[in-house]
Amino acid sequence: MILALPKGRILKALTPVLEATGLLSQPSPIDEKTRALRFPSTESQLDIVRVRSFDVATFVAFGGADIGICGSDVLTEFDYPEIYAPLDLEIGQCRISVARHPRAGLRDEAPSSKIRIATKYPVTARAHFASRGINAEIVHLHGAMELAPSLKMAHAIVDLVDTGTTLKANGLEETDVIAHVSSRLIVNRIAMKTRPQAVSDLIDRFRKGLRSQK
Ligand code: ATP
Ligand code: PRP
Ligand code: MG
Repeated sequence: MILALPKGRILKALTPVLEATGLLSQPSPIDEKTRALRFPSTESQLDIVRVRSFDVATFVAFGGADIGICGSDVLTEFDYPEIYAPLDLEIGQCRISVARHPRAGLRDEAPSSKIRIATKYPVTARAHFASRGINAEIVHLHGAMELAPSLKMAHAIVDLVDTGTTLKANGLEETDVIAHVSSRLIVNRIAMKTRPQAVSDLIDRFRKGLRSQK
C-alpha cells in the first residue's frame, strides 16, 4: 500500500500525529531536505510518498496512492467520486473566502456584469458565484492572486484566509466565507473494497495517533 503525504505546512502540523502512529522510518518523509519522493515505513506492506498538497487527492483518486492526507479545499475543488474522506484531522484549519478592495463599487457584483475572479480554485469560485446567480469569469493563478485586483486583472479573489495578514498586507478585505477548511485523511474507494482490513488498520492508527495528541 501507498500513503501520500503533502509537503509543506500540513506535513509540519501533522508531524506529531505521524510520530504517534509509529509509521515513520529512516529515511523519513518529514525530512524536507531529502530529494527522495518515496520512503519506507515501519510496516513492510506500506510505503510513503511525498507530493504537493494540491496533488494528494489526484494521487489517491487515480490509485497511485491508496490513502492520503490533504486539505478539504483540495477535495472540494477536485470533487473526485473515487475518494472517501473518513477522518477530519483538525489541522491546517483556515477558510476559503472572497476578498476585494474595500472601496470597490457594488456595481462589480451585479449579476448582469461579468465579474472576474482571480483564484487557484476555479471550480469552487465558479460554483460559489453561480449559486448567487453570477457568471464569474475565472483568472486561474497558482499564487499571488492578492495582486490581481490592484493590477486590474480581476474584481476580486477567492483564496485561503487564516489570520487575514496576507489580505491586509495587500489592501484587501474578506467579504464572504465560502467554506471552512481542515485537513482530512482520504482513501481510494477501490482500495477500501479490495483491502478493507489493511485500510481500516491504517485509519485506526491515525485515529489513535490523533487522540494521543489531544
Ligand atoms: P505549493 O507550495 O506546492 O504551491 P501550497 O502553498 O498550496 O503549496 P501550503 O501552503 O502548504 O501549500 O498549503 C497546503 C494546504 O494547507 C492548503 O491546501 C490548505 O488546506 C492548508 N492551508 C494553506 N494555507 C493555510 C493557512 N494560511 N492556514 C492554515 N492552513 C492553510
Ligand atoms: C496561504 C494562503 C494565503 C495565506 C493566508 O499562503 O494562500 O495567501 O496563507 O494566511 P493568512 O490569512 O494567515 O495570511 P502561504 O503562506 O501558504 O503562501 P504561498 O502563497 O507561498 O502558498
Ligand atoms: Mg501555500
